[in-house]
Amino acid sequence: MAAVLDVVRAFFASQTAPAFVIDAETPADVVAREALLDRAMGPGRRKKSSEKIRKDRLPAEGLALVARDRQGHVIATVRLWNVEAGVSREGHAIDALLLGPLAVDPAHEGKGIGSALMRAAMLEARKRNHGAILLVGDAGYYERFGFFAQKAQHLVMPGPFARERFLAIELKAGWLEGAAGMVVASGRKLSHAPRRHVA
Ligand SMILES: CC(C)(COP(=O)(O)OP(=O)(O)OC[C@H]1O[C@@H](n2cnc3c(N)ncnc32)[C@H](O)[C@@H]1OP(=O)(O)O)[C@@H](O)C(=O)NCCC(=O)NCCS
Repeated sequence: MAAVLDVVRAFFASQTAPAFVIDAETPADVVAREALLDRAMGPGRRKKSSEKIRKDRLPAEGLALVARDRQGHVIATVRLWNVEAGVSREGHAIDALLLGPLAVDPAHEGKGIGSALMRAAMLEARKRNHGAILLVGDAGYYERFGFFAQKAQHLVMPGPFARERFLAIELKAGWLEGAAGMVVASGRKLSHAPRRHVA
């Protein structure tokens, strides 16, 4: 009888466990994340202007998130990066975040995972006191989260980009007021292993 109950409990536990969880990315996730990005975005992903900002930088503190399936496999990823979003009217650099890439494993699209990851990332960015998030992506997808091209209208990416895909949201009202100029990386640099000098 006890064995039957255990089976029933296990059945209901498996029915109620969420299909995915949002979690912090760990170093053990890197290989799975890169494979997922190749599958979801294709080989051209490294040629994007956003890549110039990400190259040799670490993501913003606490803002590399993944979604995991019930087995713990990475099925979606999002990372945000520290940038300066041009300068204010007074000439001060404006700190902000650049979001991307966001990608969901093609086998899991349309289940709300991308939205859950976006909302978790935005919540975490607010908690960490950031003022605004920029991204380059489809307005049709990102407007539902409050991203609009108008907020980034006087900013440019450091390379080719489609103006209508360059979007922003203010996490603090007026944060991007008057922001103009180029978006540049300002995050922590990746530390490379020291080079050995051969005598
Ligand atoms: C775009 C992406 C992140 C969406 O993730 P997802 O988990 O499938 O999205 P959700 O389930 O949260 O939302 C699905 C909704 O978004 C819509 N949607 C998905 N991609 C869209 C796009 N590029 N433009 C407009 N709407 C889009 C769907 O039609 C659906 O709409 P509905 O809620 O009205 O039915 C995912 O499809 C993906 O990784 N794509 C490839 C990588 C990529 O292009 N990333 C950058 C996005 S610009």
